[in-house]
Amino acid sequence: MSLPGKRDSFGSKFGIIAAAAGSAVGLGNIWKFPYITGQNGGGAFLLIYLLCVLLLGVPVMISEFTIGRSGKRNVFGSFKSLAPDSPWYFVGIMGVVAAFVILSFYSAVAGWTLEYIVKSLTIGFGNQSTGELSKAFSSFLAHPLRPVIWQLLFMLLTALIVVGGIKNGIERYNKFLMPILVFFLLLLCVRSVTLPGSEKGLSFLFKPDFSRVNIKTILFAMGQAFFSLSLGMGALITYASYFRKTDNLGRTAMTVSLADTMIAILAGVVIFPAVFSFNIEPTAGPSLVFITLPEIFSHLPLGNLFGLVFFILLAVAALTSTVSVLEVVVAYFSEELGISRKKATVLASVSISILGIFASLSFGPLSSFKLFGKSIFDLLDFIASNILLPGGGLLIVIFVGWYLNGKFVLNEVSNSGELKVKYFPVYLFIVRFIAPVAIAAIFIYSVFYGSLG
Ligand code: PFF
Repeated sequence: MSLPGKRDSFGSKFGIIAAAAGSAVGLGNIWKFPYITGQNGGGAFLLIYLLCVLLLGVPVMISEFTIGRSGKRNVFGSFKSLAPDSPWYFVGIMGVVAAFVILSFYSAVAGWTLEYIVKSLTIGFGNQSTGELSKAFSSFLAHPLRPVIWQLLFMLLTALIVVGGIKNGIERYNKFLMPILVFFLLLLCVRSVTLPGSEKGLSFLFKPDFSRVNIKTILFAMGQAFFSLSLGMGALITYASYFRKTDNLGRTAMTVSLADTMIAILAGVVIFPAVFSFNIEPTAGPSLVFITLPEIFSHLPLGNLFGLVFFILLAVAALTSTVSVLEVVVAYFSEELGISRKKATVLASVSISILGIFASLSFGPLSSFKLFGKSIFDLLDFIASNILLPGGGLLIVIFVGWYLNGKFVLNEVSNSGELKVKYFPVYLFIVRFIAPVAIAAIFIYSVFYGSLG
């Protein structure tokens, strides 16, 4: 469907980096990365993760940028314009479905951060035992309304940014929010590494223990790299469709991947020294930030203030990610149904919220409802993280590596020959041969052997 008027675009290099890094940096970095690292042997996992980002993440990101900028439409429309009269647009539909599913459960966890911001400001964490903190967390999750209200509020915040469009909504807020995020993270790092006994936490994070590494660790690291870099579902295809012809795709992918990885590591530097300093188990799992950290805040001088800073940081990280996921669906609705951005935003956020409510309630009133042995939340997470993202990623690299003409791809990443792209042969080799095999392995393993966790 053709669009009336000129298509919106990003206005500056910093805006592009802030938005793409904003998408990548999210709960995956600050909530998931530290606990996965904690459970998989610390430094050894970190090393494997770094290799996955460099060898797989960056090339796949360049591929998504290539599709988006040359397709110039939403994720479905981009495939359709690059491969007319072929069923490749199906990958675009998968992306829209993945965005829908991810946002429904991701916004539930994002909503929890708002509850904890209010908690730091009101009752605080002081003088509560671990038992009490963990009970408070589970009774909050079991409440029939509270988590849902926070989730809906989070969706509303996301929609308010997206409705503003690219330059005046997404870019503007990312340029403002990402520096705050980095500042808060650095502040917390300084606090954490100056705690007595923090060296043990740093050595846990950075000293590799290869006895814990097996094939599962490697697949797990690849899966995490995918999720953390926002790959496989078209968030970055959609953003790249708003890039300008002069933007350097390779350099942007490298910068965004580095920023995302640095922030995940810094989140580890915040969490592990504090965990070790207070003699707490580093392998707590998903409850690490909602139970373990509050326990630390309860013992720390000015703990409520640091708690507040931490949960604002987590909420900001989540918000800049939910914005990018909602944009996938909004761009699709508005361009393919030919409706205004405003209508598309309302339609997308309301329908996603309805599914999201079920995800939230699956921790409470719907907790006994199971499908394929999983709660609704776990099922949605499984479908998105284990099937749609790796499946989408696989099809994306096959599309760029094998369907698109090599010269066309070279022309796109070199800005029609303006840029020197010495890395191109290595990139193409990875996209054609290495990435499909590696991603197929994650895909097959995670579909057949269940959650990689
Ligand atoms: N990268 C985000 C995180 O690490 O939390 C999550 C995410 C955002 C995944 C956007 C996929 C996506 F398209």
